[in-house]
Parts: sequence; C-alpha cells; structure tokens
Amino acid sequence: MKTTAGAHAAGEMAADAQNGPPMPEDRLFKAPNDRVRVVADFDELMSTRFADQVNALCWPRVLAGDFDAVAAALQVPRGITHLDEEMLRALELNAAGKRAVETMLADLALLEAHGLQPSLDCVNGYTHDDAADLLRTDVCSFHVDSATAEADTFLCTYSGACSIGVMNEHTTRHVDAPETRQRLLAAHGGADDEAFEEFLSDHFFDLHYAVAPDAPVYAFGVGHLWRIATLHPGCAVPPCVHRAPDPLPGQKRLLLIS
Ligand SMILES: [Fe+2]
Repeated sequence: MKTTAGAHAAGEMAADAQNGPPMPEDRLFKAPNDRVRVVADFDELMSTRFADQVNALCWPRVLAGDFDAVAAALQVPRGITHLDEEMLRALELNAAGKRAVETMLADLALLEAHGLQPSLDCVNGYTHDDAADLLRTDVCSFHVDSATAEADTFLCTYSGACSIGVMNEHTTRHVDAPETRQRLLAAHGGADDEAFEEFLSDHFFDLHYAVAPDAPVYAFGVGHLWRIATLHPGCAVPPCVHRAPDPLPGQKRLLLIS
C-alpha cells in the first residue's frame, strides 16, 4: 500500500488543530493526488463544494490525547459498537486518555451542530462474511457511499488502521466486468434489464469496485477529518472510491463517521 504523508500522531504531540502550535513541515498532510484537496480549517471543510474532479477534502489535524488508550480500555464485543458520552466518560483513563475522549466528543458536537448525524464507533473486527458467494459488498471492499440526496460522508480515524482511497481513474465497477455481470445475471435469473439493475442496487453490488493491481492508493491517516463525495442524484463529481482497512487481529479501531 502506498501511503501518503499523513500524520500518525494520536497521542504523540501535545497540540491540537485549533489551539496548538503548527504542525512541523514533515508532518503536514499533502494531497496525494488531484482528487484530494487539503483544507485549512473546519469552515473550509464544510463550505467547499466538490468541483473540478475533486471528490475528497481533508482537514489535517494533529490531535492531543491518547486515543490508543481509549481503544484499549473499551470492552466491546466483536463487530461495531456505537460509543456514547456516558460510556466514554466512564472509562478509567489517565489524563491523556481523558483528553482523547474530550476531543472525540468535541468532534461529535461540532458535526451535530452543523446538522449532521455523526457516530463514534469502535470497530473490533467485522462480523460480515468475507467470502460472500456472489460479490463482496462489505466495507473492506472498495466502494462508494450512496445517498438519495446530497449528503457527503465525514470520516476520522482516531486509533488503529485508517481507511484507504483510490482515484476513480484506476477503478471499474465489478458489475461492469462481463464475467461478474454474467454470474450475477445467472443468480438473478432474468434478463439484463431494469429489474436486474434494481437487483444490483438492492444488494449494493453496483457500488463496489475493482482496482487496477498497480494503482496507487492513498491512506486517510489518523486524526484528520475527511469529507468525501457520495453517489447521489446530481452529484457534481464522481464519488470517492474507498474502503475500510482489513481488520488486524487484536486491534480495535476508533472512528467518527457521519
Ligand atoms: Fe464507505
């Protein structure tokens, strides 16, 4: 995996994006390609319209606090657990861990104040079937998010492996590959018509992508807040193709998603 200069700094630097000293030059997040635009602050993240093929905005941040300690302290079952304020505040943490909790809750409040419905999640592996018979449609498979109206995805990883993106130019929809389409058509048992398109959509098959073997992918990094374009009616740019990282045994991820 080709990674970018994303700062991996949760808990490493006692500074935060709003109040701390500026990030050292070598920790600055640089846009990995022409589809990603780096913004200076939250206002720019919210006010920028996707255009000129840009389908991902990144607000780079170096967050104060020990997010890994929060992940370690959480006793959660396998799968995704939504974290609420009460649960996070009840954890036994040192000052750095508590600071991390406050940072996460502040992010949550910031997005809620802008009319979004964010969620803080702990991902402790996934419970999906990795070997889906017809076609993988889990979050660890490259995909685009979709919405019925203009609604972008917001994403920040606080601890653990981060999400991965790829330029649309290096991707093709699985359902457009003749062999895959034939297999899905056989499962559907009808003609390649509107009903089949509905079948593809109902099962999210049409949202998943193959990536060219030598395609450069980019890492979303840790601490940065991203806003990525979804597939929705009238979207001005191609949606951002991305995926969650493959789960690592014993590693819990902490993230914000909206
Ligand atoms: Fe997604």
